[in-house]
Amino acid sequence: MRTKDVTAHVDEKMPPTAAKPVLSVCSLSVDYVAPPKPAAHAVQDVSFDLGRGEVLGLVGESGCGKSTLALALMRLLPPAGRIVNGSVRLQDIELLDLDEARMASLRWSQIAMVFQGAMNALNPVRAVGDQIAEAIRQHDRTIGKAATVRRVDELLELVGIAANRRTQYPFQYSGGMRQRAMIAMALACNPAVIVADEPTTALDVMIQAQILDLLSRLRRELGLAIILVTHDLGIVAEICDRVLVMYGGVTAEYAPVDLAFNAPRHPYTQALLHAFPDPDHPQAKLNSIPGAPPRLDALPPGCRFAPRCPQAMERCQQAAPALYALPDDQFASCFLVEDTAEDRRGSLDHG
Ligand SMILES: Nc1ncnc2c1ncn2[C@@H]1O[C@H](COP(=O)(O)OP(=O)(O)O)[C@@H](O)[C@H]1O
Ligand SMILES: [Mg+2]
Repeated sequence: MRTKDVTAHVDEKMPPTAAKPVLSVCSLSVDYVAPPKPAAHAVQDVSFDLGRGEVLGLVGESGCGKSTLALALMRLLPPAGRIVNGSVRLQDIELLDLDEARMASLRWSQIAMVFQGAMNALNPVRAVGDQIAEAIRQHDRTIGKAATVRRVDELLELVGIAANRRTQYPFQYSGGMRQRAMIAMALACNPAVIVADEPTTALDVMIQAQILDLLSRLRRELGLAIILVTHDLGIVAEICDRVLVMYGGVTAEYAPVDLAFNAPRHPYTQALLHAFPDPDHPQAKLNSIPGAPPRLDALPPGCRFAPRCPQAMERCQQAAPALYALPDDQFASCFLVEDTAEDRRGSLDHG
């Protein structure tokens, strides 16, 4: 199955994960190193596959390592960030082996990112169209002026902005339009994968819905593979195929969305779901999760969630569970699933 042509059309009956993944991340670990402080293990042993046209939700509370993981995929970590282990294969190219020049040639053209808080990062004194044009020219120095303008218009219209607003400045755009302009910029060089870090946070619900519709359309029409970073499970339910729940830098659960929502196996996923309104039972009480995620430079010796876990056993304080493989492509790192696990591994099989 894994040798299937990645260019296969997304509308094929086959689920996207069955095709060869566009992006395959294996045992990725990232530390922040700033001596004399102890290293912070912000991402540890995270693995996932992303198929063409597939949307992976990356969820977890603030401080769980989501942005760190996203930046590591782009190889855009801040100076203290170190990728200490793992593999990131993008269409059969190992990104972690590339020198910076080669990586720079793939960044944006193959894998692009909409940064957290991106819509506030537009240059206030340049027309939005010029900023998108700049992104196009960065990767194609030979492109002529007329062709650039045509591409800018095409990109603006792709994200639902009238082309005649090309000459307007960011302050003339609403928040939702600025965010869509950032998405247009990320799409400027036709990447296969886009990482969108909290693209709807700070936008009102109507605008959130527009952005989500846009992302769904892009995956459908362009076959774009999307990693959607969010702390909002409602967003995940709406457009993701699979979800990776991070807790304290590790994978708590990795599963198809329907399983994560209807049969979550990790107590952290269960707690997140209880903290989130259920449209079928709007009156139900919401339970926040007491306590806070662990400090990543002072991790507990056992399971990272144990200090907050309502089901913690003595064993959980002493050893960290592996990521157990369950039926139907569901994975959970919790001793409670050990009996039903098909396999026990620290990471996914990428053979
Ligand atoms: N530049 C940095 N230097 C040191 N530690 C950092 C840096 N950026 C983030 N961290 C730490 O890494 C952890 C994960 O942060 P982040 O990836 O931003 O999480 P999330 O996106 O899930 O909120 C946090 O504990 C944070 O303090
Ligand atoms: Mg973040």
